[in-house]
Amino acid sequence: MAQETSPLIIAHRGASGYLPEHTLEAKAMAHAQGAHYLEQDLVLTKDDIPVVLHDIYIDTVTDVAEKFPARHRDNGRYYALDFTLAELKTLNATERFDVKTGKQVYPNRFPKGQGTFRIPTLEEELQLIQGLNRSTGREAGIYPEIKEPLWHQKEGHDISRIVLPILHKYGYKTKSDRCFVQCFELEEVERLRGELGWQGRLIYLTSKALTPETLAQVAKVADGIGPDIKLVIAPDRSLTPLVKDAHALGLKVHPYTLRVDALPKFATSADDLLTLLLGKAGVDGLFSDFPDVALNWPAR
Ligand code: G3P
Ligand code: CA
Repeated sequence: MAQETSPLIIAHRGASGYLPEHTLEAKAMAHAQGAHYLEQDLVLTKDDIPVVLHDIYIDTVTDVAEKFPARHRDNGRYYALDFTLAELKTLNATERFDVKTGKQVYPNRFPKGQGTFRIPTLEEELQLIQGLNRSTGREAGIYPEIKEPLWHQKEGHDISRIVLPILHKYGYKTKSDRCFVQCFELEEVERLRGELGWQGRLIYLTSKALTPETLAQVAKVADGIGPDIKLVIAPDRSLTPLVKDAHALGLKVHPYTLRVDALPKFATSADDLLTLLLGKAGVDGLFSDFPDVALNWPAR
């Protein structure tokens, strides 16, 4: 692999600021914008096919409640794991919305329910990305996240064991390949590196502050961390020690998420937030719903 650029701009659920998240259309747009990596959140179907979806639930981004009104669990939620791939493929994927109010979460994004979009499988998405890599001559990497592995295991499905062979099949095997596997569960990160033998790059995601002991534990198995932005920049705009501490242990830092339409209170603009993160904090990568905005920093 040729030397990678830094910082890496990772299309969060694709160019999800412009098209419904995790649709192939959102991934194609992110690729066209020049994102360095495209993210895939992964959950399993009933027939053990990894599909690209952020939640274990499907009622926040599809019309499942209209098409299969009786197929919810006792808590009223509809789970990808209760549907075969063939059934999921009958659903229309839409802009994310609140299940209680029906209103879309980000009001100015793609209109909810408009257009025809489908939930992609991991393999469909890898084929799209690798095809675009070839036809454009520009290689975008992949950034798959194993979603809720412990929950999947409790349900009798080992998601990591199913995803890794697919990554291998598409040529993602070592740290030289353009692929970061990510997960919020440290035990699973350790299992991926240990028992499951993943030899590519690995990122531990966290929304909670890390103790020095946990950071050292992470450094034994992972190549980097993916912290919430608030763990890098404090409310008073000062830098936390996280980036420095992580870099001292050889860990890359890829925070999430730049949303131009939902900035943290301390940021005066997207460009201001980018200056804090990419300029002052010196992070190595950034997840963004708007890859074009991050790629165009500093704004002219
Ligand atoms: O994986 C980085 C970021 O996507 C983590 O948050 O909840 O959007 O998957 P989430
Ligand atoms: Ca994610």
